[in-house]
Amino acid sequence: VEALGPDDVATAAARIAGRVRRTPVLTVGAGALGPDLPLHLKLDQLQPTGSFKVRGATNLLAGSDVPEAGVVAASGGNFGLAVAWAARELGHRATIVLPASAPASKRDPLAALDASVEVVDGQYADALARADELVAATGALRAHAYDAPLVVAGQGTVAREFRDQVVDLDTIVVAVGGGGLVAGVCAAVQDRVRVVAVETERCPTLAGALAAGGPVDVEVGGVAVSALGARRLGDHAWAARDHLDVALTVTDDAVVDAQRRLWEACRLRAEPAGATALAAVTSGAYVPADGEVVGVVVCGANG
Ligand SMILES: Cc1ncc(COP(=O)(O)O)c(C=O)c1O
Repeated sequence: VEALGPDDVATAAARIAGRVRRTPVLTVGAGALGPDLPLHLKLDQLQPTGSFKVRGATNLLAGSDVPEAGVVAASGGNFGLAVAWAARELGHRATIVLPASAPASKRDPLAALDASVEVVDGQYADALARADELVAATGALRAHAYDAPLVVAGQGTVAREFRDQVVDLDTIVVAVGGGGLVAGVCAAVQDRVRVVAVETERCPTLAGALAAGGPVDVEVGGVAVSALGARRLGDHAWAARDHLDVALTVTDDAVVDAQRRLWEACRLRAEPAGATALAAVTSGAYVPADGEVVGVVVCGANG
């Protein structure tokens, strides 16, 4: 696939404006979260349904011809919530396929969003296989959680906004699962902002792809698996790799510690994936230079 660029993200931003929130940035003073530098937190867990995923889901549905059969999405949870929400907003039917491992915090709210829900044994990759069967059988729109161009461009709007809000931003630190978010961030900022991609050691799709010279299946588990637990990095993330400045992993313990710091210092709740990017900074895995203006995307708060 070809990497997306700023125009794709600008189009997405115009399409979703007024439908999803322009989330606030909280600037936290040096030391408050640990590291001795101010940190700019982009609070995208404040989106409807509690994650950034409504950006991509809304861009996909508003930018596609959605058939009568509606849309089908496989999801560890947050993308399913986002697609169900966007479909309801836009008047379409939604079917969400979840792995049995999806937590109740991501499964239960689907009922209130009028989505049809199917639960399959296994992990995200198993749900994706079932979703593709449903698409083939019904002709519904396929909503891939991290590798559809409209989804990736939609996720990139978080970085476009972030740059508007913090004009001297040097660096965006962002979590990676299947890589739709990081691919969108790269599309938005290209080489004008340094992009630091962070995943947990237990969900190493990007590390696996970098080691193998291309996306490969990896084993996934640990605290962030319901959000970062794609089995394989997406082709868009791989195509964006030249814009990645740093790719690193953090431990599950570092993530839990970052969640605790966010709560204690800011009374902000994040799910493990939502605190994974922050964990890179609080654990010292990423050490900013003197004076570096660092932005961290807080991307989800379900479970
Ligand atoms: C809260 C949260 N953060 C990060 C991600 C990772 O996004 P991507 O799969 O686009 O890398 C997800 C994906 O489900 C998520 O729910």
